[in-house]
Amino acid sequence: GELLILNGPNLNLLGTREPAIYGSHTLDDVARLTVAAANAAGFSAECIQSNHEGDLVDAIHAARDTAVGLIINAGAYTHTSVAIRDAISGVELPAVEVHISNVHRREEFRHHSYLSPVCDAVIVGAGIHGYVMAVSYLDQVLP
Ligand code: DQA
Repeated sequence: GELLILNGPNLNLLGTREPAIYGSHTLDDVARLTVAAANAAGFSAECIQSNHEGDLVDAIHAARDTAVGLIINAGAYTHTSVAIRDAISGVELPAVEVHISNVHRREEFRHHSYLSPVCDAVIVGAGIHGYVMAVSYLDQVLP
């Protein structure tokens, strides 16, 4: 089966954006690492990044027919988007929420996630390795 790896707004800037917080690896590095982990576990993988909330909603809907699991770092939409939350709960795929930084060590407004209650696992603060941990989790729970 296929895993959909979704990255939201500003994650295209990874590697150059606030490297003290997010590290120096790029989104391409994340994609390579995550696809390799998925392939090693016997999954295919598709990586999509968008800065647009509706595109992320559309990609989650499309995953209903193409994917067996979802890994999502919704960036700042994590803290604002009921629409992305409803899309995740609507498709009923096993879903893992990932944040590169430890959001709980940062500003108060990053402490609440609309997505956590509808995701099966949440991985924060592990850097880009969090995506590999998410693959490992899905490998454990999927048949
Ligand atoms: C992030 C944390 C969010 O609060 C922030 O808006 C991001 C990245 C992370 O991966 O640590 O864009 O999701």
